[in-house]
Amino acid sequence: MPRTSFPRHKIRITLLENIHPAAREALVAAGYTVDLIPKALEGDDLAKVLAESHIVGMRSRTKLRAAQLEIAPKLLAIGCFSVGTDQVELSAAAQRGVPVFNAPHASTRSVAELTMGCVIGLARRLGDKSAKLHQGQWDKSLSGAHEVRGHTIGLIGYGHIGQQVGLLAEAFGMRVLFHDIQKKLPLGLSKPLPTIEQVLDESDFVSLHVPETAQTRGMLGAPQIARMKQGSYLLNLSRGSVVVIDALRDALQKGHLGGAALDVFPQEPTPTQAEWRSELAGLPNVLLTPHVGGNTEEAQRNIGLEVAAAITSYIDRGDTEGAVNFPTINLPPRENTHRILHVHRNVPGVLASVTSIMSELGANIEAQQLGTTRDIGYLVMDIDRQLSDAVHERIAALPVSVKTRVLY
Ligand code: NAI
Repeated sequence: MPRTSFPRHKIRITLLENIHPAAREALVAAGYTVDLIPKALEGDDLAKVLAESHIVGMRSRTKLRAAQLEIAPKLLAIGCFSVGTDQVELSAAAQRGVPVFNAPHASTRSVAELTMGCVIGLARRLGDKSAKLHQGQWDKSLSGAHEVRGHTIGLIGYGHIGQQVGLLAEAFGMRVLFHDIQKKLPLGLSKPLPTIEQVLDESDFVSLHVPETAQTRGMLGAPQIARMKQGSYLLNLSRGSVVVIDALRDALQKGHLGGAALDVFPQEPTPTQAEWRSELAGLPNVLLTPHVGGNTEEAQRNIGLEVAAAITSYIDRGDTEGAVNFPTINLPPRENTHRILHVHRNVPGVLASVTSIMSELGANIEAQQLGTTRDIGYLVMDIDRQLSDAVHERIAALPVSVKTRVLY
């Protein structure tokens, strides 16, 4: 167990919204006190939790905006047990010295597996066959049914998910092409192509695995879809805005595409909306799933473990690896040193101010890392002697200081 100078059980962590039990287990094993609240909170209930907690963890329904962060005097960090972090006002959290952690890649494998499920589902027209049999029709026709072996899949976006899909597709005997705006090392026998157009020209299946950006919004519109091979298939399990739905519907209705699989949509329903209908409903060989690519027990468990590990290493060492609103600092602990963490406003001269307090003390700085963002600077410093409360207070009282912690 790391040598923090504070009693670990005094760190109070509140986990909301039924976060996977693996997170609680990991945090309890680390020695912290963990409270569980199964639902999302707002208003006075949330205020009460924020007044008492050092760490708050939630999924996507509890919202932490500047107004809530103002009433969270003890808050050290926030854990978003989710892929996204829209539920937190990130810049307001940073300005209060509170890093926000999430788990952007814990569901990678789940999405990749569903993508492969859809590839086979499209090739065998499983959606239609299943729907017909549910209605009592025994349709054994082989028309439009294919093996995937020997066919080509083109991946647009070759990041965490794209790479996994590529490896799985290759294991099925498929040829893998990809296009990414960054230079990526091809895994297995996959082949990088310099343009999207080349991927569209050559692929029997085109699968999108890009983030939502200005560049990817509407990236697959009418001209791109027209360029895809006759009878080929389009899969989107990334973000709804990447595909122009009207153009896809036209191409499916005209029989230019052989089918499509969509897990994400430009306008998805709100959690309380009872009914929702896609413009693609009823079209042949179209697999529609309600944004469940990452919804597996395994992914939830991975999210729990990943965010719990990030929180632990922030509390114990000050590491901010994986924080979405903080500079990344990861300073390996050293023997016989004492560590101070200092979050400050990002203005010139802060390092000099802290260093001069250290040199007045006669302390030697053994290691340090400083990182900045537009909002804040974050300094982690290891020195050769214990800091007294008086020195701690002196640093904390610098006009630029936001949050100061002595770890050990
Ligand atoms: P990642 O960040 O690891 O990879 C994305 C890749 O896309 C990067 O390599 C990037 O360079 C590339 N890229 C960005 N802009 C591009 C462009 N204009 N053209 C070509 N390549 C471009 O992200 P990851 O984890 O692989 O996720 C991919 C997508 O999957 C994201 O949109 C994410 O939101 C979505 N996702 C969907 C889930 C679901 O439930 N359906 C669950 C998890 C993620």
